[in-house]
Amino acid sequence: MRVRVTRRWPDAVEQALQQRFEAVLNDADEPLSQAELAQAMAEFDVLCPTVSDRLDAAVLAGGSRCRLIANYGVGFDHIDLAAATARGIAVTNTPGVLTDATADIALTLLLMAARRAGEGERELRAGQWSGWRPTHLVGSALAGRTLGLVGMGRIAIATARRAKHGFGMNIAYYGRRECDPAVAAELDAEFFRELPDLLAASDCVSLHVPGGAETANLIDAAAIARMKPGSYLINTARGGIVDHAALAGALERGHLAGAGLDVYPHEPQVPAALLGLDNVVLLPHLGSATAETRIAMGMKALANVEAFARGEPLPDRIA
Ligand code: DGY
Repeated sequence: MRVRVTRRWPDAVEQALQQRFEAVLNDADEPLSQAELAQAMAEFDVLCPTVSDRLDAAVLAGGSRCRLIANYGVGFDHIDLAAATARGIAVTNTPGVLTDATADIALTLLLMAARRAGEGERELRAGQWSGWRPTHLVGSALAGRTLGLVGMGRIAIATARRAKHGFGMNIAYYGRRECDPAVAAELDAEFFRELPDLLAASDCVSLHVPGGAETANLIDAAAIARMKPGSYLINTARGGIVDHAALAGALERGHLAGAGLDVYPHEPQVPAALLGLDNVVLLPHLGSATAETRIAMGMKALANVEAFARGEPLPDRIA
């Protein structure tokens, strides 16, 4: 069975793939063009893409050999699932294994924004730190503040646990439905049926909904206007969920005290309006970037390819 891997994967996973299949890797780690992705559909039985590959209908129409897209990652808004299904191509992802790493990055961003850590580091490295003083780079405490989670899936719950049990925050959330009562009780979490109400009640808002058409610009100018003056916005989900022009305006005016972003609408581009702002922390999509997690993601993708090769049900099938 021929398997095409579109980016470099951790060594251990690449070796395991090569032992079991005729795997073509990407040693140069350069992104494949749309034409190369389409060609892969024609030449390989399995394609193993990542979030940086756009698998639209035109790419999927590139060939009829590929029967499985085993995505390395949990998010799949970069794959046209309807087009894949129409062509009889199964799609899998890697849920569960990146929950803790991503929740850690959400808290990293929240702490960095609230405690002005990015500003401080930039100042120090620029040789502009003039010494300790009571009014220097004063941020906000998190204890007793309300963290509002937009979406209450695995990563949101892991983020809420850290915020509640580690930092003494109050937890509120908005989602399609109430979460497991045991989780709600553990977190003493307040459920909001309407997003604007959650935004108005939170001191910090963290986004945990999938990307794609349904959530595009969910956090637009009107939503940001609902957020409390002096509050914080954290995004580890997908860049397209936020209107970045509106966000930059709110940060500039001081309506929001800060923001922490790990994802952007057209990565690796970062909206220019944000780059000059001191009160936004900008990370390069590091949510799952621990050695342990990246290996676990690869092994999960591999398990799906192996199940496919054996003709068994796919453990993480999404289409
Ligand atoms: C995912 O898995 O979707 C992440 O965004 C990549 O870490």
